[in-house]
Amino acid sequence: MDIKNVLVIGAGQMGLGIAQVFMTSNYHVSLYDMSEEQIKKGIAFIDKQLNRQVEKAAMTKVEKDEVMNRLYPISSLSNAAQVDLVVEAVVEKMEVKQSLFKELDQLMPPHTILATNTSSLPITEIAAATSRPQQVIGMHFMNPVPVMKLVEIIRGLATSDEVYKVIHETSERLNKVPVEVEDFPGFVSNRILMPMVNEAIYTLYEGVARKEDIDAVMKLGMRHPMGPLTLADFIGLDTCLFIMETLHKGFGDDKYRPCPLLRKYVKAGWLGKKVGRGFFTYD
Ligand code: CAA
Ligand code: NAD
Repeated sequence: MDIKNVLVIGAGQMGLGIAQVFMTSNYHVSLYDMSEEQIKKGIAFIDKQLNRQVEKAAMTKVEKDEVMNRLYPISSLSNAAQVDLVVEAVVEKMEVKQSLFKELDQLMPPHTILATNTSSLPITEIAAATSRPQQVIGMHFMNPVPVMKLVEIIRGLATSDEVYKVIHETSERLNKVPVEVEDFPGFVSNRILMPMVNEAIYTLYEGVARKEDIDAVMKLGMRHPMGPLTLADFIGLDTCLFIMETLHKGFGDDKYRPCPLLRKYVKAGWLGKKVGRGFFTYD
């Protein structure tokens, strides 16, 4: 199966990065978000990212214009034409994803593959909302998408070998490195990463050290590119909390209990870099 037309749903930080890498790799990309404002901001964001590539001479102005011409913002899912692959990147909530997948199952042509960028939710459960679970798969990109090489590919219980193969090949065409992972909470990436981030938040909560110093320990002592609190802000504290809740519920083990301080920040709306305030503040 040849993928040509891709529909990206969600124009947040992940959806925009995903749209950009597909556009840059010659795919035609429709972009949908329930917020039209977010789509407008998103187009301006991608344009700015590509202009930086032109400034760095990584791309000519003509090439950049060609890439932008492959982007089609849409204001309704029913306006998407002839989609071969959907990549969903909306909020990390099972009920939202299931209801979207149900709708997509009705709207999309029978051959369309429905992929989700979920960071922790069971693919099998999302697939169960559709009549085509063999065509539902996890395609988990890392943030920032244009920079990070990994794509975790997660098979649901019913995902077909053919669909797995298409997504594997497509990831390679995006110049990414795909890794195959079974459908367990948090997959590999967030099962390992997020408890570390949660522990850093507990360390702050228990007054073990100042936030700057917790980050300094992990950056200077372990050579992490970002400290865990900065990384949590970068990912989004709402997303971090959803992932910890999935791990806690999915494994039934208290070692995954989300830190109360993380809950408090999310309740306050301090969701991290995307809103200008989390553990740190941003312009
Ligand atoms: N979008 C696109 N490109 C970006 C970018 C963004 N948001 N942020 C940085 N870049 C690019 C820059 O343009 C620059 O490119 P060039 O080298 O070609 O000039 C390059 O990345 C390096 O950027 P900077 O020099 O500005 O900054 P840096 O060296 O500090 O790197 C970083 C920034 C790449 C984000 C680095 O800090 C990093 O790797 N942080 C850790 C990121 C990480 O762990 N991601 C995984 C999060 S977990 C996840 O994604 C899974 C999940 O489900 C939650
Ligand atoms: P975000 O908050 O930046 O963006 C989410 C976008 O989805 C928003 O623009 C919102 O308007 C839109 N949206 C919400 N519900 C919608 C619906 N029903 N229909 C259409 N649009 C809808 O979130 P994000 O950080 O981009 O995360 C998106 C997904 O990617 C989540 O599943 C998350 O777990 C996953 N993910 C996040 C990261 C990360 O570092 N943030 C990394 C990998 C995967």
